Amino acid sequence: MKLLSLTSKVSLLAAVGSLALASASASNSSYYNPVLPGWHSDPSCTQVDGTFYCVTSTFISFPGLPIYASKDLINWKLISHAWNRESQLPGVSANTAGQQQGMFAATLRYHDGLFYVICEYLGVDNRNLGVVFKSPDPFDERAWSDPVTFQTDSIDPDLFWDDDGRAYVATQSIVLQEIDLATGKLSQPPISLWNGTGGVWPEGPHLYRKDGYYYLMIAEGGTETDHSITIARSRNLKGPYEAYENNPILTNRGTNEYFQTVGHGDLFQDTEGNWWGICLATRSGPEWEIYPMGRETVLFPVTWEEGEWPILQRVRGNMSGWALPSTNRDLPGDGPFNSDGDVYDFDKRTKIPRNLVHWRVPRPGAFSTTKRGLQIIPSRNNLTGTPFSEATPELTGQDGLSFIGRRQTHTLFTFSVDLSFAPKSVGQEAGVTVFLTQVNHIDLGVVLLAPSRSSNGAVGKPQLAFRFRAEGTGIRPEPKIVPVPSAWADAKIRLQIQTLNATHYSLAAMPVGDPQAKLIIGTASAGLVSGGNGSFVGSLVGAYATCNGAGLGVTCPKGGNAYFSRWRYIGEAQYISATESIRV
Ligand SMILES: *[C@@H]1O[C@H](CO)[C@@H](O)[C@H](O)[C@H]1NC(C)=O
Ligand SMILES: *[C@@H]1O[C@H](CO)[C@@H](O)[C@H](O)[C@H]1NC(C)=O
Ligand SMILES: *[C@@H]1O[C@H](CO)[C@@H](O)[C@H](O)[C@H]1NC(C)=O
Ligand SMILES: *[C@@H]1O[C@H](CO)[C@@H](O)[C@H](O)[C@H]1NC(C)=O
Ligand SMILES: *[C@@H]1O[C@H](CO)[C@@H](O)[C@H](O)[C@H]1NC(C)=O
Ligand SMILES: *[C@@H]1O[C@H](CO)[C@@H](O)[C@H](O)[C@H]1NC(C)=O
Repeated sequence: MKLLSLTSKVSLLAAVGSLALASASASNSSYYNPVLPGWHSDPSCTQVDGTFYCVTSTFISFPGLPIYASKDLINWKLISHAWNRESQLPGVSANTAGQQQGMFAATLRYHDGLFYVICEYLGVDNRNLGVVFKSPDPFDERAWSDPVTFQTDSIDPDLFWDDDGRAYVATQSIVLQEIDLATGKLSQPPISLWNGTGGVWPEGPHLYRKDGYYYLMIAEGGTETDHSITIARSRNLKGPYEAYENNPILTNRGTNEYFQTVGHGDLFQDTEGNWWGICLATRSGPEWEIYPMGRETVLFPVTWEEGEWPILQRVRGNMSGWALPSTNRDLPGDGPFNSDGDVYDFDKRTKIPRNLVHWRVPRPGAFSTTKRGLQIIPSRNNLTGTPFSEATPELTGQDGLSFIGRRQTHTLFTFSVDLSFAPKSVGQEAGVTVFLTQVNHIDLGVVLLAPSRSSNGAVGKPQLAFRFRAEGTGIRPEPKIVPVPSAWADAKIRLQIQTLNATHYSLAAMPVGDPQAKLIIGTASAGLVSGGNGSFVGSLVGAYATCNGAGLGVTCPKGGNAYFSRWRYIGEAQYISATESIRV
């Protein structure tokens, strides 16, 4: 393992930053992928007045459709979420059964003073619900409108304005419809533009107008190791489209690259006129087995001469291409930068930070900040919930899990949080988890267990214990129960999740006052939270509270609220190939 320190490079860059300005267009830059590490699939981006904006897919997590902004293409600030309040789509989240439904691939565009995010929400009445959110100011979360809705059978809507100002939606397969953005009305029937070059799932279309052509760039081959980007063009919006003879224009299919599944991208220009592209990739190597962060966002330089087809640079960890805009983290708004760690000391005045998300819209009041820390009111369903059933919908988790987490954004990291928890009823539990879906998660909880019955029939007292358990793809470790040492019971307990290496986590507990007394309760493979039932999503690390089915309706027995303080996520290393990593 070659471990390189970025520190010297970063300070050098900072020192020459002002010097470099004058000749910025003259010399090329190098940078590392992914630029949006952690679960960020199907990116779509645009540049407005020197600021770049991107949106990525979020499926059933909430708030959803994050908007990232950057002035330098490397530092991306989470400035808002287009889907940020239940009232924008009332009841939709609670009616979505599947773990990987919800907000599929979106397109972000700017037109006539407004930002638009167009997307399709899957899972309601087995239909696709098209949504168009608008905002005059993406730095203000509340400025995102309620959506105009529309209905199509295919996913991945693009939004394109023709020279005459009319707006068009291209979707999977690849078909085109004109859209009335005030009403969501689509022209019928859809016009078939192109079927791609023969790969499965022609999808993720984007249209661009350049040098008298309409360029249609799509994803093909499915979002696995055959994934690719292909392109066609026409003099007329409605076709016929001519496929480029050198398709695919981007793929890592059939290679040994560490970055695999490369595809589903978008193109945009910087203020110097240079073209860039962004797409998804998985840091898994060709084995494609362990990749807990799922599909991440990578950046690549594009050369696009007048009248020619675009040339997209192969995606790797270490990239070199057009001069990047100079480093600049000066962006408005209160969101965190995606690659930064978390240092959150929750108290009554703390707003819940924007990078902390839930699995589905949470129940009202389940999360609040108090003087004791972040209060989580437990859900009756635990992180797994019961199989989806009409009879006990409150136990499936569809009404929201009492879970809050942030993306795993680094190959190596340490996450910890201090827990204050005094359960009164058997089954009450609070803890930390690496969470991919309700059937893929690795948990360390403090739980009140039923008393054991001795051989003479005497019933003891309920036992406070650490419980480690995991569910997921592949072989899962046996659950482990370790009594909470009596000396720890009344104090805050620090729960910690740490990467042992790129493929394994360790979950540990310690008294806040004595970290030396740390007990490692369990270790687990990140393969549990890679692919399988969670192949579209990526791991979150965070905290939860549940009463494991005790109680009635949606309410747990009293006394099981959990308080989390001193929330820390510290990134330690980012792998850029199977054998190289950079310290962060
Ligand atoms: C794409 O395939 C469909 C189904 O075979 C066909 O109806 C359509 O005409 C094709 N589109 C183009 C542009 O060739
Ligand atoms: C990345 O490539 C540049 C040259 O383009 C080189 O100077 C640098 O050392 C490389 N970084 C790593 C981590 O290999
Ligand atoms: C600079 O980057 C562009 C885009 O990748 C590339 O076409 C060009 O060859 C590079 N120039 C040099 C001098 O490396
Ligand atoms: C990662 O850690 C696990 C658990 O300690 C160990 O089994 C595995 O061999 C390690 N992998 C590497 C590449 O060192
Ligand atoms: C998980 O995947 C298995 C195998 O494909 C499938 O049988 C099961 O229904 C899935 N579970 C969920 C909750 O999606
Ligand atoms: C999770 O909750 C369900 C009921 O909602 C229960 O059957 C199951 O045993 C719980 N799991 C644990 C580990 O307590």
